Amino acid sequence: MDESVPNFASLADIYCDTSTAGGIPLDLSTRWNSLLSLFRETYGCAPDFVARSPGRVNIIGEHIDYSLYDVLPMAVTADVLVAVNVLSSPLVKIANLDAERFPSQEFHIPVEGDIEIDASKHEWTNYFKAGLKGALQFLRRKCEGDWNPAGMEIVIDGIVPAGGGMSSSAALVCASALSVMVANSHDVSKRDLLDLAVVSERAVGVFSGGMDQAASIFSKRDYLLDCAFFPSFHAEHVPVPRSNPEITVLVAQSFVAADKHVTAPKNYNLRVVECTFAALILAKLHQVLLKPDSSPLGFSLRNAQEEIMRKQNRLDQAPEEQLMAMISIAEEKLQKKDGYTREDLADILGTSVKNLEEEHMSRFPVQADKFQLRSRALHVFSEARRVFDFKKILSDVQNAHGGLGEQELRLLGNLMNATQKSCSEVYDCSCPELDQICAIARQAGTYGSRLTGAGWGGCTVHLLPQSNVEKVTKALKEEYYSKHFSNMTEEKLKQALVISKPSSGSAVVTGAAMEFHHSI
Ligand code: GLA
Repeated sequence: MDESVPNFASLADIYCDTSTAGGIPLDLSTRWNSLLSLFRETYGCAPDFVARSPGRVNIIGEHIDYSLYDVLPMAVTADVLVAVNVLSSPLVKIANLDAERFPSQEFHIPVEGDIEIDASKHEWTNYFKAGLKGALQFLRRKCEGDWNPAGMEIVIDGIVPAGGGMSSSAALVCASALSVMVANSHDVSKRDLLDLAVVSERAVGVFSGGMDQAASIFSKRDYLLDCAFFPSFHAEHVPVPRSNPEITVLVAQSFVAADKHVTAPKNYNLRVVECTFAALILAKLHQVLLKPDSSPLGFSLRNAQEEIMRKQNRLDQAPEEQLMAMISIAEEKLQKKDGYTREDLADILGTSVKNLEEEHMSRFPVQADKFQLRSRALHVFSEARRVFDFKKILSDVQNAHGGLGEQELRLLGNLMNATQKSCSEVYDCSCPELDQICAIARQAGTYGSRLTGAGWGGCTVHLLPQSNVEKVTKALKEEYYSKHFSNMTEEKLKQALVISKPSSGSAVVTGAAMEFHHSI
């Protein structure tokens, strides 16, 4: 049986910073107290439970999850909390701790039929509704017959910065879906939650891979999460070996808002389409047939690799050799360096432009005259290789019961730097501010610096010796933040630069943790 989402009664089981009284960091307990107070004020009772799901930072493996290649993220402490009182009638009342930005709403759950979400209107409650919709579809399939959805009184608090590249949307969708499952007395497996959260988020209009949801749900304190998507999803917890010098992961915000939902037609979703076409064209040119897979549009580059390697009798070659072969194949076969028009694509695939659009571009709008297949495929294969090399360095050291020394740390950093170069120059998902932050940080003493998440803004992740934290943060403050934002407050600076430790994934919180945290 699949592992269930854990149930905790103490906040200290969830959060890794135990440096303050009662094992609960001061600002976290203040935050939980505010959530519980608002709940009592609004609904006149304590919540039955709180569902929580964290944001994530991706260490390496960018824009390759939807091509079904492995990625290596970790959950962060910042999370979304959904406090719930279960109602017998199918009414949802939803409030947010930040009522000014996120106004309250009320709606009925239809007894039959689906929850309506208008993806063209960017309302904050869409993400809750996306989780609700996915969970209800799941529950309706499971509990056939006479089943009525429970209603819910809800207060939400999210501290994953929206548009900040740390996956606030997946955290909200996962916590929402989890809250609906628990409100309907369903014991939730992590696997089921992942499946329905990935599909749910697509209802809000972004055809993302499963990395963010997997990291939010499956992560474990002190471990990175090795996520594999092909032929089916599989997650492993990867320990970070001890190191000399001691290392730290620093996350630095660019404060360039990157709302992938708004820019999807020419950024994120377009990349999904380009990678899908690259897979279809490579398969066609090798005369191999692709069976549909679990990628957003059903045909991934990883799938194309498998079939091409099978045809060439190379499936028994090591994964890194296969990836090198795919790089040569992309260079040789995807010749149009300035991109493919719809006519070019239809011509190679032996179909009409109308059919091409209907089959592969009708699920969401994309804005492009030309599709960059060569560069996108080259990024994907080379990034998949970097993830492989990164994981190998960690596992070799771990297997030798050794630690990461200067040499290994430099190699890990170089891989992260190469990712940034590829995101910036080949995949075109960086922006000048992200490039600048990475350059400043490297100059001041990181091993590796790169954007993390979808890019086009959002945040960056840095691997650095603990002893250089002060130097690097000082350089970023002086050369980036104070130059770009003349009157930045201390509070905002605190949010801008965060040391991140691998944290735990989704959980349901009940019992003693529902009482006020007087210990602080
Ligand atoms: C977003 C998506 C993920 C992944 C990253 C890029 O965060 O939600 O699925 O594709 O971008 O690596």
